[in-house]
Amino acid sequence: MHFPSARHYAAIKSFGGYRPARVVTNDELATQVDTSDEWILTRVGIRERRFAAPGETAVSMAVEAGREAIERAGIAPTDIDLVLVASCTLPTQLPSAAPEVAHLLGIGAPGAFDINAACAGFCYGIGQASHAVQTGAAETVLVIGVEKFTDWVDPSDRSTYIIFADGAGAAIVGRSPEQRIAQTVWGSAGDRPEAIIVRDRRSLIEMDGRAVFRWATTEVRDEITRICAASGLSLRDIDVFAPHQANLRIIDSMVRALDFRDDVVVARDIAVSGNTSAASIPLAVRALLERGEARSGDKVLTIGFGAGLTFAGQVFEMP
Ligand code: ACO
Repeated sequence: MHFPSARHYAAIKSFGGYRPARVVTNDELATQVDTSDEWILTRVGIRERRFAAPGETAVSMAVEAGREAIERAGIAPTDIDLVLVASCTLPTQLPSAAPEVAHLLGIGAPGAFDINAACAGFCYGIGQASHAVQTGAAETVLVIGVEKFTDWVDPSDRSTYIIFADGAGAAIVGRSPEQRIAQTVWGSAGDRPEAIIVRDRRSLIEMDGRAVFRWATTEVRDEITRICAASGLSLRDIDVFAPHQANLRIIDSMVRALDFRDDVVVARDIAVSGNTSAASIPLAVRALLERGEARSGDKVLTIGFGAGLTFAGQVFEMP
């Protein structure tokens, strides 16, 4: 026998985001740890970042980003039948955040689960959402990447405190007359679990920055060509490159090594957002749209990479 199977097409319909109000400059951090504005700017490319207010949680930031994505897609919360929350900084292990986020947004009893793929989480989520729409498991999916790193970073550890920040980004994935999200390419390097790790429930983040930097600028960089090939396009067809915002030097090294057009728009949101892990790509894409640097119909290439180690990426058409 064979079971009924559906075949639909999927597209990203909108982006939304939430950036906490509090702006934290490098000079402010330099009053707390032994660092400087000059070191952070030249080694990482961050000018400022946002830290959540004491009352703000990963769930409350996810709700704000989700609400904006729903409004911008011109749909009602009740149209959504699947909610995915990508995060590696939730305050609790159990339950997951997605059901509560859905409830607070007025989405009635959707499928709901979290994804922990660290900084690759949003791209894993877009892949899952696209598959769900294509198979008919869902019709309209809310994908959120959210992080509250200030709960998990040691304020006396200058190698992580200056990098990580808080925020949330979101997208709506729904049915489309044509497939506008290309095949997701994903993978991992599980032989390096200690490169970025929270060892147990009483610990904070530890990171071997050099190891992650080396991996990102060699093995991960090589995957970008594979992500592009999975879309049937060449790198010269890509209008917008929106990689995970980990370090400006990583982004620039990727751009230098790859055969993008000279006029490709590159997301460099890290300068004002820091590293917001699963939130970094949707926040960066939203910023490009808001500034008019990217337009509807642009071909966008994304790649997320981080703890695990894991990576994932895909090409999609800008809503
Ligand atoms: N301020 C001043 N000096 C510093 C700081 C700081 N904040 N941090 C480190 N240093 C010093 C070091 O002690 C070292 O000094 P030394 O030479 O006297 O020993 C020197 O600066 C160089 O240190 P490195 O660690 O080699 O600095 P590097 O250029 O590699 O930058 C960084 C560190 C920014 C962490 C970089 O390695 C990086 O961006 N790595 C990638 C991180 C990443 O991509 N993470 C993504 C995933 S995150 C996730 O999955 C949750």
